[in-house]
Amino acid sequence: MVNIAVLGYGTVGSGVVEVLRTNQESIDNKAGEHINLKYVLDLREFPGDYIENVLVHDYDVILKDEDVKVVVEVMGGVNPAYSFVKSALLAGKSVCTSNKELVAKHGAELLAIAAEHKANFFFEASVGGGIPIIRPLNQSLTADEILEISGILNGTTNFILTKMDKEGVSYEEVLKEAQKLGYAERNPEADVEGYDACRKIAILSSLACGKQVDYEDIYTEGITKLTDLDFMYAKEMGLTIKLIGSAKKTGNRFSAMVSPKLISNEHPLAGVNGVMNAIFVKGNVLGDVMFYGAGAGKLPTASAVVSDVVDAVRHLGENVETKWSQEKLELIPHDEVCSNFFVRIKGSLDRLPEIEEKFGTVDTISITEGEFGFITGMMSEKAYADAAASTEGIISMIRYEK
Ligand code: HSE
Repeated sequence: MVNIAVLGYGTVGSGVVEVLRTNQESIDNKAGEHINLKYVLDLREFPGDYIENVLVHDYDVILKDEDVKVVVEVMGGVNPAYSFVKSALLAGKSVCTSNKELVAKHGAELLAIAAEHKANFFFEASVGGGIPIIRPLNQSLTADEILEISGILNGTTNFILTKMDKEGVSYEEVLKEAQKLGYAERNPEADVEGYDACRKIAILSSLACGKQVDYEDIYTEGITKLTDLDFMYAKEMGLTIKLIGSAKKTGNRFSAMVSPKLISNEHPLAGVNGVMNAIFVKGNVLGDVMFYGAGAGKLPTASAVVSDVVDAVRHLGENVETKWSQEKLELIPHDEVCSNFFVRIKGSLDRLPEIEEKFGTVDTISITEGEFGFITGMMSEKAYADAAASTEGIISMIRYEK
């Protein structure tokens, strides 16, 4: 029997308990041991709940109990999760977490501590909810140099964009629904401003290059400025809009960004709708692979956490190496990254000569009075920003991924 403790009895924590109870026999079988839930840590009381008898309010009870071999951290946020996880690893306990803020900020350090103490720090659920992506990157795609990872990494925003696109529902209305369904972060700003996707692409790019990619270095734009007119333009052009986190290798350097992007309806990420996430990986010998599945929600996320628990139990006393050093990777400066830009601007097509003088040759589209849209050729962020700064009447800009 292996004893485990769950830190946090919120959406994911209660999901972990539910998954363990639902599939206890097959999970035990796969782990080769009976997995026993010895403690649940939470500040709140849960009278009448299944976990009432294993509920504790003091983390030290768990830390000091040598019989607890695996700690599941599903509290979210960096503090106190960081000190709890670090002390557990220092005590030789393995940790499984869904906490992307913690992993993005301290992943490399926590992995090193786990390795020193013959324990494991697993974080499959931190990216893509129930989609297996961390383990494949770490253990399966090892023959390849990763050239690109791009994905729809946030279920809440994909749910919102899908409803805006397909049903014309207002942004506020869909956000409320996503919160009710347990997809959104406690502070939904983390979803809609792209911060959540930013943490996730920081984790994926760190794993892809084996070095620390700081999320603070990743240019991040959310979906709050998108309107129904943007979707009307997109439809007219045979495109759709998705919030995409991407990391790309150019020469020996990586760039990374999170932003809404116009993509063709034929693009592999275009059909990823609702709360689904997908992660597209390009390897130099493998070519393209895509991982698709439920990117948020109680049970899909809990399923990934429990798969880590099984792995941790299978490897008690033995570290499974993850290549992610604390050495910082300098990203290509945002100014130098090149894109095509779709721009909405006030006025009529009479302005075309002025526009082309500043932005180079563009394709135009007109769907409503008083404004029109144009798509630039590939240009750097700096060249775009300079041209835009000297152009009157720009309404909005969305990058276009051809
Ligand atoms: N709020 C996150 C999302 C949860 O919507 O994707 C999963 O990380």
